[in-house]
Amino acid sequence: MERRMLFPQTGGLVHGGDYNPEQWLDRPDILEEDVRLMKKAGINSATLGVFSWSVLEPEEGEFHFEWLEEIVEKLYRNGIYTVLSTPSGARPAWLDAAYPEAMRVNRIGMRAHHGGRHNHCMTSRKYREKVSIIDRKLAERLGSHPGVMMYHISNEFGGECFCPACVRKFQEYLAEKYEHDIEKLNKAWWAAFWSHRYNSFDQIEPPFENGETSVMALNLEWKRFTTWNTNDFMKQEIAVLRSVTPNVPVTANFMQLFNGLDYRKMAPELDVISWDNYPLFHNDWETFGETMYGTAFQHAVMRSLKRGKPFMMMESAPGLVNWQTVNKVKRPGVHRLACLQAVACGSDTVQYFQWRKGRGSYEQFHGAVVDHMGTDDTRVFREVAEVGELLKKIAPVAGTLLHTRAALLFDWDNRWAIQDVKALSQATKKYEETCIDIWKAFFRLGVDMDVVGSDEDLSCYDVVVAPMLYMLQPGTARNLKAFVERGGQLLATYFTGYVDSDQLCYLGGFPGDGLKELFGIVSEEIDSLYPSDRNGIEMADNSRWEVREYAEILRVHDAQTLGVYTEDFYKGTAAVTCREHGKGKAYYVAARTDADQMLPLFEKMLTDAEIPMRKLPEGVEYHVRSGEEGNFAFYLNCTTREVTLSGVKGRDLVTDREIEDSLTLPGYGVAVVHFV
Ligand code: GAL
Repeated sequence: MERRMLFPQTGGLVHGGDYNPEQWLDRPDILEEDVRLMKKAGINSATLGVFSWSVLEPEEGEFHFEWLEEIVEKLYRNGIYTVLSTPSGARPAWLDAAYPEAMRVNRIGMRAHHGGRHNHCMTSRKYREKVSIIDRKLAERLGSHPGVMMYHISNEFGGECFCPACVRKFQEYLAEKYEHDIEKLNKAWWAAFWSHRYNSFDQIEPPFENGETSVMALNLEWKRFTTWNTNDFMKQEIAVLRSVTPNVPVTANFMQLFNGLDYRKMAPELDVISWDNYPLFHNDWETFGETMYGTAFQHAVMRSLKRGKPFMMMESAPGLVNWQTVNKVKRPGVHRLACLQAVACGSDTVQYFQWRKGRGSYEQFHGAVVDHMGTDDTRVFREVAEVGELLKKIAPVAGTLLHTRAALLFDWDNRWAIQDVKALSQATKKYEETCIDIWKAFFRLGVDMDVVGSDEDLSCYDVVVAPMLYMLQPGTARNLKAFVERGGQLLATYFTGYVDSDQLCYLGGFPGDGLKELFGIVSEEIDSLYPSDRNGIEMADNSRWEVREYAEILRVHDAQTLGVYTEDFYKGTAAVTCREHGKGKAYYVAARTDADQMLPLFEKMLTDAEIPMRKLPEGVEYHVRSGEEGNFAFYLNCTTREVTLSGVKGRDLVTDREIEDSLTLPGYGVAVVHFV
């Protein structure tokens, strides 16, 4: 079995975070103390340079890398490796003053003033040129330093720009996509509607708020273009770095299921996936366990962007953040639990924002390993140091992988199309929530699902759930059919296969593109229910599911009916069906129900697929990572109660004790059980 350690030089798992020495250059005593404290906290990596441009190049063309080099060197001498960031996430004032085109234009066509961060135009030639210059110098000066283990591109890419250069680039992008044939675009965009026909590509504007927002295909193409253009910007940064130091791996920190960019298009450009994890712990609308499960889903999204490699948790808050409506501190023990969860789900790093709290400005009260007190005896510091110790104990986990044979399909295009479609009930479309609820239901059965795109290779999976797959990409239907044919258990729901990738409706009955044959049904109508409306489903085993929000009315052609509606004019008609196809089965659930009600169906699918389940008490998480070092079962108690689990065998690396059968975890307790 494979073991692919991301950073062998660290000896295993990475423990580190964003470090901003440029804010303390006038305090050499603090910089000295930082190294001592890092060692004490078991830190073996620091992320440098994330927003350092105005210190690295205080005037145009005047570069100062010496301070950075000194710090990289000092850290390295102390066993701390650098994740070196390019500074393109925030611009110095001189740059915007000299080249205003670098500042974004908003949806109503207004150019921004200088300030903030993460807000440059991705198209601006001048900005790209300036970024390339500083990236090259950074790579030339520091990229070959043995202490530099990775590049971190910019920071949290996101956002759109509507400047004239972006508009032009969008038109070129469309011309390329529609083979310079405007009639092809008009056809794909159904442009005879409302007289929306274009004569040429240069007439097309992006969806300005005070302009054209009623063409679904235009709105979606703009989203696709924004991803494409951001990716293009990122690729340019990567190309410069690789031209100087081809062997330094690159990453860019993602933001969980961020709406603005299709990360699946960006992932192939990166050597390693990384993301910034800021759960709203201890909130007042869900249980702590639910927050943890939701985070496990986000980890799964990131893990699945590059299957076959561990990912990185690039940022997380050591204590609290400062930007939530309520900035609650993590309760004792939660830090360790959340860090271990990241590793359990496939991360080889536990990294923080930030190492030390700054004295001023926007993030002065954001949690950090080192507080304004500056000491190593704070609760947060102690908990971080404890994690440092723990990561050393579980170092053999580094490079192992979480393998699963179950997957949930989630597409960004589909998400955007559902958000925009003028149908259903605007307030309850809930595509993401529906996916997450189903993912969590499998998780409760002890099955970690990957989260993959509908056009990805499904050959390593035996159970696939595709909720609300409204838009089918070319090839998706074929992919799903082949999956079932070779023995897969597939489940789709209401609102599947209505439109193609241009958002043109399939004719002849939904789900289109051959899926109605696969499922053996046609959906004739979809009923949107008011918030207080309810229907029900009576299953063949006499269990009853509650239906809310959506109910499709089906014609069953060639499928077995497993459940029927209990109310309304479609009472008695099919709501849940199953069709055998090849060696597998295709289930269709035509209405929205709580995912937990579908558990028996999910269990049946898992049983038929011979995927083992591991049902644990509510609030206890279970993940397994495997590799040449053996298997590592992670048990995470996301409750404040002590729990005792049976059927656990192996050596717990946390306590260094052999477990014969029964494992007791205190509230928020963790175990990493190594077994062969
Ligand atoms: C992240 C960002 C960091 C820091 C952090 C605060 O989104 O990348 O630079 O601002 O949030 O939680």
